[in-house]
Amino acid sequence: MTQKSAASFRKWRQDWLTSREQQEPRYGIIALSSVRNSLSRSVFHLPHRHPSPAMSDSPTPNPFFRPFPAPFLRREFLGLMTASWGWTMVSSYGADEAPEKGKGPKGRGGRGGGNSSEYVLPEFLAEFATLSIILGRATDKTMTFSALAKETLEGYFEIGTVPGKYVIKTAVTSFQAGEPTELLLGELTPNTEYFYRANYRKPGAAAFTHRPECRFATQRASGSTFTFTIQGDSHPERPQSSHPELYARTLQTAAADGPDFHICIGDDFSVEKIPTTSPESLAAPYLLQRPFLGLIGQSAPVFLLNGNHEQASLYNYNQVDERRTVAIATQVARNRLYPTPAPDAFYSGNTEALKDIGLLKNYCAWTWGDALFIILDNYWHSPALVDSGFKGEDARQPRGEKGKSRGNKNRDWWGITIGDAQYQWLKETLETSGETYKFVFAHHVLGTGRGGIDGCGMYEWGGEARRGEGTFAENRPTWPLPIHQLMVKHKVNIFFQGHDHLYCQQEKDGIIYQEVPMPSDHGYVAYNEDRYQSGTKLPSSGYLRVTVSPEQVTVDYVRSYLPKDEGPDTQQGAIAHTYKVRANSA
Ligand SMILES: [Fe+2]
Ligand SMILES: [Fe+2]
Repeated sequence: MTQKSAASFRKWRQDWLTSREQQEPRYGIIALSSVRNSLSRSVFHLPHRHPSPAMSDSPTPNPFFRPFPAPFLRREFLGLMTASWGWTMVSSYGADEAPEKGKGPKGRGGRGGGNSSEYVLPEFLAEFATLSIILGRATDKTMTFSALAKETLEGYFEIGTVPGKYVIKTAVTSFQAGEPTELLLGELTPNTEYFYRANYRKPGAAAFTHRPECRFATQRASGSTFTFTIQGDSHPERPQSSHPELYARTLQTAAADGPDFHICIGDDFSVEKIPTTSPESLAAPYLLQRPFLGLIGQSAPVFLLNGNHEQASLYNYNQVDERRTVAIATQVARNRLYPTPAPDAFYSGNTEALKDIGLLKNYCAWTWGDALFIILDNYWHSPALVDSGFKGEDARQPRGEKGKSRGNKNRDWWGITIGDAQYQWLKETLETSGETYKFVFAHHVLGTGRGGIDGCGMYEWGGEARRGEGTFAENRPTWPLPIHQLMVKHKVNIFFQGHDHLYCQQEKDGIIYQEVPMPSDHGYVAYNEDRYQSGTKLPSSGYLRVTVSPEQVTVDYVRSYLPKDEGPDTQQGAIAHTYKVRANSA
């Protein structure tokens, strides 16, 4: 390293390490091919309420987060509902189990907007709160439907492979109020597009309401072209930078692309400002998101990543106070209220079960077309606090020692980890993959800090460390390479991350580091842009549309605006930036 580059390295490293001082805002916050013959389901009953975004530093409790009346839980065991295609009801809760100091342009949407008292869907989309349908666990032959009704309904589905021509009609079943009911559609044909219509009515009503037709696809074959979409941090708890109408608009626009699945990069279910922690209150953010994610989830299986604000972490789990309750309740709520995949013949992932949770279902990998998809978890395998802790706990200062920040230099940076088991799984997954394209997703490099390639050289991600902190070999003796170098070796094409609340595309050593913008920021700000020293930077809001073909991958940044903010240069659905990635050579 030359003197000049060493000085430059020290400067950016110091900038990066001290970036914690301006960290993320804390204000505020089966084969199931047909298990036709019998499965029981266990369903918890939850009241369905809509949270308010009015969470701030005010001591006034958020009205949404008041405790639910207890007891609210009960378990039901219902018999099998089958049709000729193997509709099966399966367990939805199994035993397996300041805005920141933005430097971006001022948005026309204004800050502190979103004057609604509740973070709910616009009235014209109220149907998606009446009945939220979210697909998940897509495989080559199966699809899981999760139906959540606001008030008890009964309904059925019609399915076919030609639009408007349904050859299968399921039995009428009950969707209990506030309960996720999972239905497994089996014996599907791989690499096929299906069309379905949901029909529902209040029990005893004369007529059914017919929902518009939806579509979904089974696993694409090699050589196929398909699309998937990604959203960044939606943060519905932040009225300053998240507007429900804009979020809904983004999701509707993304759904119109017909993606085969939709990935949420994390910070969608913050629980940090909940005044009274209980399993019920901690599940509230997950219930709040159901109507929104149903806008796209009814036709695109949804994959969820944990962000730092979900507070689902090993650090919290290892405590003996309310933080343990938080870690358990949030992960349980996620896996109960959303059809998250567990390791099976189709998905690989975390096979270790934790007491009081079961399988975490926090990281996984699968193949689709010519691509390998790997979702990592930054928080469930780190004994050290990774980023912001519960209720303002800070990795730089011990709990109960407010005002005594130890600073970044005293952080246990080597203690922050994805864990040995996840690393070895990642390594094996990459080594055994023969797919043309490889995509990796995590909430952020290291799960904390700022920037993309700006921070990817440090600690277990890149192997660098400050003097006196030890070496990569000393701190990760069983790891042949840091994570970045491992991804380089195995020709990962794009690493997608969130956390920083802007759009930024960078490249290092042949890997694109892609920061995903917020879907809901009505201020249209490029937060933390000063933390990205290179790359194409653009403000939120919008989503990423990724089209995978045998020859190339096309990534589009699709913008989203509130109607009042649209104009000649700010059109809904406009592509603000696009780039292509060529197929890996053999
Ligand atoms: Fe984050
Ligand atoms: Fe975030």
